[in-house]
Amino acid sequence: MSRENDLMEKIVSLAKRRGFIFPTAEKYGGLGGFWDWGPLGVELKNNIKREWWKRFVQERRDVVGLDSAIVTNPEVWKKSGHIGGFADKLVECKYCHHRFKQEDIKESNQCPDCGKSVFEPARDFNLMFKTFVGPVEASTSVAYLRPETAQNIYVNFETIAQTSRLKVPFGIAQIGKAFRNEITPGNFVFRTREFEQMELEYFVNPKEDDRWFSYWVKETIKWFLDLGIKKENLREHEQAKDELAHYAKATVDVEYNWPFSTGAGDKGWAELMGVANRTDFDLKAHGLKYKDESGEFVPYVIEPSFGVERSALAFLLDAYDEVKGGRTTTTESNKEKEVVLHLHKSLAPIKVAVLPLSKKTDLAKVANDLYEAIRKNFISAYDDVASIGRRYRRQDEIGTPYCVTVDFESLNDKKVTVRDRDTMEQERVPMAELSKYLNHKLNEIL
Ligand code: GAP
Repeated sequence: MSRENDLMEKIVSLAKRRGFIFPTAEKYGGLGGFWDWGPLGVELKNNIKREWWKRFVQERRDVVGLDSAIVTNPEVWKKSGHIGGFADKLVECKYCHHRFKQEDIKESNQCPDCGKSVFEPARDFNLMFKTFVGPVEASTSVAYLRPETAQNIYVNFETIAQTSRLKVPFGIAQIGKAFRNEITPGNFVFRTREFEQMELEYFVNPKEDDRWFSYWVKETIKWFLDLGIKKENLREHEQAKDELAHYAKATVDVEYNWPFSTGAGDKGWAELMGVANRTDFDLKAHGLKYKDESGEFVPYVIEPSFGVERSALAFLLDAYDEVKGGRTTTTESNKEKEVVLHLHKSLAPIKVAVLPLSKKTDLAKVANDLYEAIRKNFISAYDDVASIGRRYRRQDEIGTPYCVTVDFESLNDKKVTVRDRDTMEQERVPMAELSKYLNHKLNEIL
């Protein structure tokens, strides 16, 4: 499929129409940079997080997990440099007074809203969300919503190394919410003010940092490719010295070819996730060290950091396909274009849909019993409304890998028809073997 300019609009519309993503509190006009994930969206996000955890924690001997507090002692953010320096350069248009991130208007030097080119001098804008802990709103009770999950990993480093009896090199992984008061949230869920991160802090001997850095860049790209992102839509961007964060010795942004421009860099290409060599900056800032047979030292940290929502957006965009004229054989559907989300099976929100050919009692009973049995193992759907062609299309549009049709013959031969979303091949499978069959098809190891 060519990457049409309106792909983003189609995804935004599909996401709302089918219950993936909605603006938060739309009834009250929403809130800039905040989104709600509907029934299908939450399944997609859960699947992304599960696949990430499986690959980077469960399948590894050298990585353990953590789930730390979102609000923590503000000293953490002082020591990490966030209170002093977690800021974007903000510019304000002198004419319409709208505010932007300086890097977003760098190329055009024009106000995206009124087109003028005169701005107030850039100033630092701290992205941390402030709150108060306890019943008194005083400077002594100020706390912050975490802007990244990484810092709580560092402050737990010594405790986890001891309790889990881990030796360098080893990693600590965390999935959780992060909050940033972004100047210009936008491009749907690409840049939001509340989002989730999947972060791995991998602690290495400083003598081996370059080797581990290259290793983690490869591993992260492999994860996206294994989950179906097309190779031509991914690339590595090694940050130049002047792009690097103050703590980083090297950073590779894994970029995706988005169907929109973020204003910074090449049209379309922008950060999907990043891998940074954070050196010993963070552990030193928190006064932490490590000891083994070789002596005492401060490990370097290699950090692959992923955004859940940004990954979800990339998976949705990459999976979207339109078949002009339709794929199904009914004359009714031949007239229209058909949408198919070729999501990787493990990411698809609904794995199996049970579609009885008729609502007649005996057939519906068989189909319902089958549905009850299948949904014990997989997130499933039951749909007995409209023609079978229309029902297939409804499932294709949300990426359901398998549709199970119960027809009149099923009552005699005790078999059902299983249709594959991508090949559209249909196979007759005995009902007694259906769970085993689906289990095999859906649980193919990545
Ligand atoms: N601990 C390192 C760190 O937080 P980052 O590049 O600021 O690094 C890592 O963020 C990832 O988190 C990004 O690559 C992106 O996927 C996601 N992310 C960051 N800010 C985001 C935002 N405002 N909205 C959505 N995702 C965001």
